[in-house]
Amino acid sequence: MKKVLLAASIVLSMGSVQANSFDALGCSGCHGAGGKSAIPSYPSLAKSVRPNLDIVKALKDYQSGARKNATMNAMAPMAAGQEQAIADYLAGQ
Ligand code: HEC
Repeated sequence: MKKVLLAASIVLSMGSVQANSFDALGCSGCHGAGGKSAIPSYPSLAKSVRPNLDIVKALKDYQSGARKNATMNAMAPMAAGQEQAIADYLAGQ
């Protein structure tokens, strides 16, 4: 129980900085803060940079295997259920 409370307070304290699945799942590690990538091999995802990118569709296609990329086929399942939240976050970037 103590561990649960500790974990909850860590999550809450992170929340005061900026709570979003994109950071929490490690997506920003490759795609950059706010989805603005500084590394050419990792595409930017921020709406301001990629206005026509459909984030939800891309994630679902990686999940289903309709779109093949070893890295994203491994990462996309972690975003299951949070596709729209991630898209909403990136829409504001
Ligand atoms: C280890 C690095 C890495 C991580 C971590 C990562 N990605 Fe990616 N991502 C890539 C690469 C490389 C591509 C390009 C793949 C391709 O060519 O299809 C990509 C492509 C994408 C695309 C499609 C972009 C486009 O131009 O069509 C989306 C959307 C995406 N990632 C979302 C995410 C989300 C959400 C997460 C976190 C759950 C995440 N990625 C985590 C490396 C990463």
